[in-house]
Amino acid sequence: MRYIKDLKSAEGTEITLKGWVANKRTGKGLVFIILRDGSGICQCVVTENSIDQDQFNQADKLTLESSVEITGMVVKDDRQEGGYEIQVSHIHVYQVAEEYPIAKKAHGIEFLMDNRHLWLRSRRQWAIMKIRNSIIFAIHEFFQQEGFVQMDAPIFTGNACEGTTNLFETEFYDMPAYLSQSGQLYGEAMAMAMGKIYTFGPTFRAEKSKTRRHLSEFWMIEPEMAFYDLDQNMDLIESFLKFVVGKVLTQCEVELAVIERDTTILKNIVQTFPRIPYADAVKMIKGELDVNGKNSIITLEEDLAKVSARIDEINAEIVDRETKIATPGLKKGEVNFHVTKVASLREELKDCEENQKNIPQWLQSARNFKDGEDFGGSDETVLTRLFDTPIMVYDWPHEVKAFYLKRSNDSRYAKGVDVLAPEGYGEIVGGGERETDKDLLISKIKEHDLPMESFEWYLDLRRYGSVPHAGFGLGLERLVAWVCKLPHVRESIPFPRMYGRLLP
Ligand code: 4AD
Ligand code: MG
Repeated sequence: MRYIKDLKSAEGTEITLKGWVANKRTGKGLVFIILRDGSGICQCVVTENSIDQDQFNQADKLTLESSVEITGMVVKDDRQEGGYEIQVSHIHVYQVAEEYPIAKKAHGIEFLMDNRHLWLRSRRQWAIMKIRNSIIFAIHEFFQQEGFVQMDAPIFTGNACEGTTNLFETEFYDMPAYLSQSGQLYGEAMAMAMGKIYTFGPTFRAEKSKTRRHLSEFWMIEPEMAFYDLDQNMDLIESFLKFVVGKVLTQCEVELAVIERDTTILKNIVQTFPRIPYADAVKMIKGELDVNGKNSIITLEEDLAKVSARIDEINAEIVDRETKIATPGLKKGEVNFHVTKVASLREELKDCEENQKNIPQWLQSARNFKDGEDFGGSDETVLTRLFDTPIMVYDWPHEVKAFYLKRSNDSRYAKGVDVLAPEGYGEIVGGGERETDKDLLISKIKEHDLPMESFEWYLDLRRYGSVPHAGFGLGLERLVAWVCKLPHVRESIPFPRMYGRLLP
């Protein structure tokens, strides 16, 4: 089999490609097929005089997403995406597709989600999935070269890891069981056997709200390291994220271009990530501590003013262009030009209006933030807008974090760390150093109202050769969403499972 991504090596030869019709145009005696085969896309030109008439007629009748086998000469053509085109000598049609539901026109997100099984074929979704694939591969590459052993945690579990509020309950041979929220507790046991391990598996959380950051089923990477403290954990997180994002930047140039990702901020990944104690982060959110001369409250107020001014500008420009479009006798080309401009202005307007709605809410939650609380989505947004790299917030009030975190030297805090991505994305990693004191753990398990009997095995890890250890969990979809700058995590996974969505 030959693939479109390898056309360069086939220049000047005749090859056969198999794929689907992503687009088709016809001219006099000509059919232009944009073929996609999963590896890439390329233009295939069918000329009436250079192919038998029956095949030309078949090509002429091809519909969107019809499946075909195309044979032809590979010719260099710099105007084409990928730089090559096929001059078709033979075409075999597998199936002429029925009318394809996802046409070129813009569809609403719910329609696209209902058709996720088809939507995945679109160029943009293709690029996102390729980036997701590169991220997954880079994750394995990083940990394997660092000497970690990949091990799998069970999905059926008898205990909660991250608290009981969002557990999916199920049944396991007449016994109540839960779908795993995190492989961490098992990861700790495995680290005591192997030294450094990582799990990579699906995790489940019943999040009964629709946010752009939450899925009910998501993939988590959870390394766990014996003899690591919080600082070493943060060093590892930082080099890990630098490696993975670095790989995407070098390996996914085409895909990043397809989704029109501005990579400036991604390239900042090489800079040192600021490490900020929770107490300072709170002051930054509330505008009591500036970040490189930037004050959160003042920046938000300025941004709100800018957005409002821009909305006025856009509205004026739309009126102006629509008047021009309505002018009698305007050339077709000019009309099209204005129509395209108006469409993109309306897109920008939507974004601006979204911001105009959000910023006052962020301002309010920043002003009212209470020291000692966990960060909500808006707090993370306010904080990360002040930075151009991921940041690491550590030393969290122990009450708001999981039971297993080790107390900091100042016992009001626990040795947890959250990594927050810039551009408003917020938390992508949560982790920390683990409590080694068995009695403290027992009291925490009671405090969190967790059933002691299902944690006995976990307590054994503190009975037999207990050592300092630490680890973290990266939410794969959160990382993909940030790297691709997606408006919502639902586009970062092939078939999202979230509140209100079980099909397709
Ligand atoms: O911060 P969390 O809850 O941490 C843990 O589960 C720890 N046991 C990890 C560890 O130390 N081994 O979740 C880790 C990450 C979050 O930072 C976020 O990226 C992702 O998992 N995550 C979600 N992603 C999508 N949808 C959800 N509902 C998510 N909940 C958490
Ligand atoms: Mg967390």
